Amino acid sequence: MACGEFGFGRMAEPEQLVQAVETYFTNVPVAGSLDGLRVLVTSGPTHEPIDPVRYLANRSSGRQGAAIGAALTAAGAEVTFVTGPAEAPPPPAQRLVSVQTAREMHDAVVAALPVDVAIFAAAVADWRVLTEMGGKIKKAPDMTAAPQLELVENPDILAEISQLETDARPSLVIGFAAETDNVLDNARAKLQRKRCDWLIANDVSPETGIMGGKENQATLLTSSGEESWPRLDKDAVAARLVAKIAEWRALRTEKGETYAPPR
Ligand code: CTP
Repeated sequence: MACGEFGFGRMAEPEQLVQAVETYFTNVPVAGSLDGLRVLVTSGPTHEPIDPVRYLANRSSGRQGAAIGAALTAAGAEVTFVTGPAEAPPPPAQRLVSVQTAREMHDAVVAALPVDVAIFAAAVADWRVLTEMGGKIKKAPDMTAAPQLELVENPDILAEISQLETDARPSLVIGFAAETDNVLDNARAKLQRKRCDWLIANDVSPETGIMGGKENQATLLTSSGEESWPRLDKDAVAARLVAKIAEWRALRTEKGETYAPPR
């Protein structure tokens, strides 16, 4: 090493280094603005097994969640990053938890509490199959009947954490709304229904290229209004969100309000 120290070490993954450098030069979140703030981020899709070789999933790449995690870490936050099987490499974070299913994601989120801020960027599968088969489902020999899969709803992690009535509820809960129709109306209804504090709405219709893509066009909905951002790189969307969180924190600190209790 340049300083003359000698011994075994391990370099961070090259993808993580590239991501950190890119984030640094494209959107510089105010370093230190989130020092000591505990933030939980969920990201990526979930995979819901049907049998040992098949699963239900969605097109989430995990890019927006990873960009948010990287921007938070760059701003000094203590990030717990809970991710499903995403294509995007995970960001630098204090704690990284990898999960497969919605139920595992739920348990990892609950185990990570208390935190000050929770951001639910994951595209959690809404349903899982009622009975996961232990062996591979085979085609019927006469090829007459296709298997009928019975689905049951997964826990709604965002709604559950938003509606916690204990001190474990994070002071700021931020959800996403992935919509294809009536984006803003649906997002407004989602904000009310789930009872999170902020909601980031995006149009994930195939022609937007947002789901699985590199850019996002988001509208931030809060109790005090709506703010539409231009179509931006997902890193830039993450930087804007982190700047908003820093503003929120500065305001709370000014008012002498505290966050969730220490672990
Ligand atoms: N979410 C969650 N747990 C679930 C489903 C969704 O935590 N089981 C979170 C997502 O991470 C996101 C928000 O809820 O922050 C909204 O997800 P979205 O897929 O847009 O909405 P749904 O709850 O699936 O509702 P709908 O299918 O009616 O659009």
